[in-house]
Amino acid sequence: MNARDMDPSKFQNYRLVLFGASTWDDGLNPDTKDFLKRLERIELNGQSFALFGLGDRQFLVFCAALPTIEAKLKSLGANVLSPAFTFDNYQSGQDINQFIDWAKNIVTEFS
Ligand SMILES: Cc1cc2nc3c(=O)[nH]c(=O)nc-3n(C[C@H](O)[C@H](O)[C@H](O)COP(=O)(O)O)c2cc1C
Repeated sequence: MNARDMDPSKFQNYRLVLFGASTWDDGLNPDTKDFLKRLERIELNGQSFALFGLGDRQFLVFCAALPTIEAKLKSLGANVLSPAFTFDNYQSGQDINQFIDWAKNIVTEFS
């Protein structure tokens, strides 16, 4: 689901949220920026998130959005699992199975 369409108050219906975001110009893309703004009024106490990022190592700061998102979620009381998973656009052919394994491990460890 795109963050644009996500109602943050619905997070409480899920035990774990996998949240992915790309990095633009060393920071957040507009959808993520808007989404974090909409989180302001939401209680995230105890809500668990696992983060993944889309980036490109050719840029100065790889997947810079991730620490920003993590800090924001934690400041609202969320539990952010680690490690995050990163996709590197520059590393063409990165195996999607690495992502699937990461997601499976997170879900297994979490449950
Ligand atoms: C204008 C622009 C700026 C970018 N800046 C960064 C950056 O600072 N760090 C990074 O890791 N990737 C950066 N990227 C790479 C994107 O995060 C990557 O291509 C990603 O897959 C884009 O996904 P999206 O089109 O779904 O937003 C940038 C891409 C563009 C087009």
